[in-house]
Amino acid sequence: MTREKIKKICVIGAGNMGHQIAVCAALSGYKVTCTDISQEMLNKAEGFARTYLPERVANGKLTQTQADEAIANLSFTQSLEEAAGDVDFVIEASVEKIDIKRKLFADLDRITPRHAILATNSSYIVSSKIADATKRPEKVCNMHFFNPVLVMKLVEVVQGPHTSAETAQVTMDLCKKMGKTGILLQKEIYGFVVNRILTAIYNEALFLNDMGIANHEEIDIAVTNALGHPMGPFRLMDLTGIDLAYYKAMERYRETCDPKDKPSPIVVEKFTKGEWGKKTKKGYYSYE
Ligand code: 3HC
Repeated sequence: MTREKIKKICVIGAGNMGHQIAVCAALSGYKVTCTDISQEMLNKAEGFARTYLPERVANGKLTQTQADEAIANLSFTQSLEEAAGDVDFVIEASVEKIDIKRKLFADLDRITPRHAILATNSSYIVSSKIADATKRPEKVCNMHFFNPVLVMKLVEVVQGPHTSAETAQVTMDLCKKMGKTGILLQKEIYGFVVNRILTAIYNEALFLNDMGIANHEEIDIAVTNALGHPMGPFRLMDLTGIDLAYYKAMERYRETCDPKDKPSPIVVEKFTKGEWGKKTKKGYYSYE
């Protein structure tokens, strides 16, 4: 299997990450099928592509031909069989729940051609927790994009103990073809590189907020103005999803039983209230 053999990609999940991974792959010349159990999410994803691409043409970032080709490359369906039956590469970006991912990978193993690579965009579930749900563990790896996918350059490719060198290389090559900068992690570690660093920042920001030292707005002002980050940690959590921050912390806490891994009180409160950030129009900030 080489990068050249990849012609068709299936993106699973049309949410925060999946809808932009699909457009990014389509812009890179791949035929892309995007699938989700929710027709509403698929409609939103298609609506995004049909608005984003003409906007990029209007502001001179894309030619009309590039936009037309990308739209022609994209298709959306609720049927996993239809979406994945003849693909060469799968990028799974569904919810961060291990049971759902294991079931999906078992289904994908049955549905996709034998040569297809099955990658997960999961940011913290390492692929060794999923690979044994398939009969092709050597073709399973993490391929972790960053939000917003169409802007952020980095992708972390994680080679688990089961992942073949060929799979890791083809995935790294695909990152390049998609205009991304891939880094290869040769061992699995919780949080990979970026989220380990980001979690340290989040934890400190949440601690300062929970202690009443400074509120979320002041902490964001501090981080953007003193450290030069484009967004402070609270606005960034709103972008990536407070639900994700909650699930991540709970999953970690279940594993370690270390109280320091529990989600912070404000994360629990926002999660319970359904204030998950931009996607629900309210998180630390309001997006009405
Ligand atoms: N989708 C697609 N493109 C977007 C976008 C979005 N949601 N938001 C902004 N853009 C594009 C704009 O089109 C514009 O593109 P152009 O320069 O080619 O015309 C460019 O980004 C800049 O946009 P704006 O001027 O409107 O806005 P900002 O300058 O405020 O940038 C931002 C917005 C790119 C989101 C910037 O604030 C940023 O880089 N923030 C940090 C994001 C970050 O740290 N991401 C990593 C999160 S961690 C993660 O994803 C891990 C995961 O596991 C949770």
